[in-house]
Amino acid sequence: MKISKCLFPAAGYGTRFLPVTKAMPKEMLPILTKPLIQYGVEEAVEAGLDTMAIITGRGKRAIEDHFDISYELEHQIKGSSKEHLLDEIRSLISKCTFTYTRQIEMKGLGDAIFKGKVLIGREPFAVILADDLCINEDGNGVLSQMITLYQKYKCSIVAIMEVPKEETYKYGVIEGKEIEDGVYMVSNMVEKPEPSEAPSNLAIIGRYILTPDIFDIINKTKPGKNGEIQITDALMSMAQKGMVLACRFKGKRFDCGSVDGYVEATNHLYALEKDKHI
Ligand code: UTP
Repeated sequence: MKISKCLFPAAGYGTRFLPVTKAMPKEMLPILTKPLIQYGVEEAVEAGLDTMAIITGRGKRAIEDHFDISYELEHQIKGSSKEHLLDEIRSLISKCTFTYTRQIEMKGLGDAIFKGKVLIGREPFAVILADDLCINEDGNGVLSQMITLYQKYKCSIVAIMEVPKEETYKYGVIEGKEIEDGVYMVSNMVEKPEPSEAPSNLAIIGRYILTPDIFDIINKTKPGKNGEIQITDALMSMAQKGMVLACRFKGKRFDCGSVDGYVEATNHLYALEKDKHI
């Protein structure tokens, strides 16, 4: 079955960015002139997906407004020298449909994904965490690389990257057997392990392809680390019963949920696109 839907869990509080996230969604933080979530939607469209299913929460309405028409602005800007500044977002909106549901209580990423069941139905789907900004200058985005792999193996896939061992406590970490270059069959997964307990230095980042049986599995998953429903725990159950792959992607990933990663991403994209913004 072709993958056409991409889920964006975007209900989190973004506490690492307080106070800016008090009244503004973290996913709307700009990298140059575009909000983080727009980069995510662009990556999904590049991978051939056309339905964006966004999990929102209180205070996140700016996301819906961003992927809509602002008639007042359209009226003001029409025919002016600035009209071209809307070209990119207009074109993006015309290529996809946006659906939304709210996560009422922020009970973790696993719970946020579970809330997407109503928007996804019973089909395989992609997940993008917009605060993980991924860039592949060769043009083949991370989600595209994962969809190619899905077409071959037809199972759930997580994107992974190597991290310094002392940073494993920030990520879900996998253990697995490499079955082809950069592709691992997952045998173990641990959420945010201390370096001494980490099974490897292969860390899961915010890109997933999930088969729809994940919803039943999450529903049976008990709260884990920090009392939250962890997608890592649900995927571990899935790996024990069937197959979950981990894909070491090509490209760069910036953790824009942290101030360091956000500044790094901004500087990186500014160096690449400087001429466009003068
Ligand atoms: P994070 O833990 O990075 O986001 O969750 P956060 O909780 O918003 O940020 P901090 O740690 O307080 O600064 C990863 C992703 O999962 C979503 C977040 O919006 C983010 O995109 N998420 C997390 C939810 O949608 N719901 C949750 O209950 C938890």
